[in-house]
Amino acid sequence: MTLSVTEIENGREAVQTTVPGPILLLGAPGVGKGTQAKELVKLWAIPQISTGDLLRFHKANGTPLGAVAKGLMDRGELVPDDLVNDMVADRLGKPDTARGYILDGFPRTLNQAGWLDTRLAGKAQEQSLPVVAVSLKVDYNQLLRRITGRRNCPVCGTIYNIYAKAPKVEGICDVEGAALVQRADDTEAVFAERMKAYSALTEPVVEHYRSQGRFVEVDGDRPIEAVSAGIIAAVKRLRAT
Ligand code: AP5
Ligand code: MG
Repeated sequence: MTLSVTEIENGREAVQTTVPGPILLLGAPGVGKGTQAKELVKLWAIPQISTGDLLRFHKANGTPLGAVAKGLMDRGELVPDDLVNDMVADRLGKPDTARGYILDGFPRTLNQAGWLDTRLAGKAQEQSLPVVAVSLKVDYNQLLRRITGRRNCPVCGTIYNIYAKAPKVEGICDVEGAALVQRADDTEAVFAERMKAYSALTEPVVEHYRSQGRFVEVDGDRPIEAVSAGIIAAVKRLRAT
């Protein structure tokens, strides 16, 4: 699907007028959740809360949570719900979430979704808008290409791709000049395990939010800017209902 100029303009206008509230970015490994979250952060000045990034931080810093998470993440399995929910609760308690936030990769089990729904239902109406859920879709072969082609800056977190979003100098971050790295779980074998976990545990979460309304499925197999424009237009539309 190609967006018309009007749809893109409507998306831009939404930036000025929409209080974004909580936005969930759902979708398979490599679908573009992190890439799109960073675009929305720039537009709306609300934080990206990526449970994968938070867990990698714990892993890199050798915290007790990181020690539990390491083996599971390296095998492509999910970290236990209670640990992840506590980590998210801690992050949502920070004041920068007041106007909204982008949850990238959470919830990804029905237990996590139930926990989040209960937490938000307990907030006074004026403090919390209901979630808007965006599910990104890209086919399996394209996901595999994105995962194996991904490179990250270890300093600023910019996400590159050797096929689709290459840095100006091979292997070097455009912003920081640091040597780019590959994630430990970005191998074909671990990707297959992550996809199994996604199908078994996270697809039911997508259906949960689809059935609640304030849900949109966005074709992620388009240029990054077109996907962003689609998400922005959808959030504006869903916030107006
Ligand atoms: P996490 O880090 O969340 O990994 P993931 O869900 O597998 O998703 P990715 O980060 O791999 O992909 P993405 O959708 O962010 O894509 P990106 O924008 O980078 O989780 C890792 C692990 O942590 C889990 O396996 C689990 O163990 C644990 N974990 C995390 N959350 C948990 C939870 N809630 N509960 C339990 N355990 C949890 O893009 C990918 C590539 O594609 C990049 O190279 C990018 O440049 C490129 N790209 C992006 N958009 C486009 C486009 N439109 N066109 C072309 N290329 C594009
Ligand atoms: Mg990510």
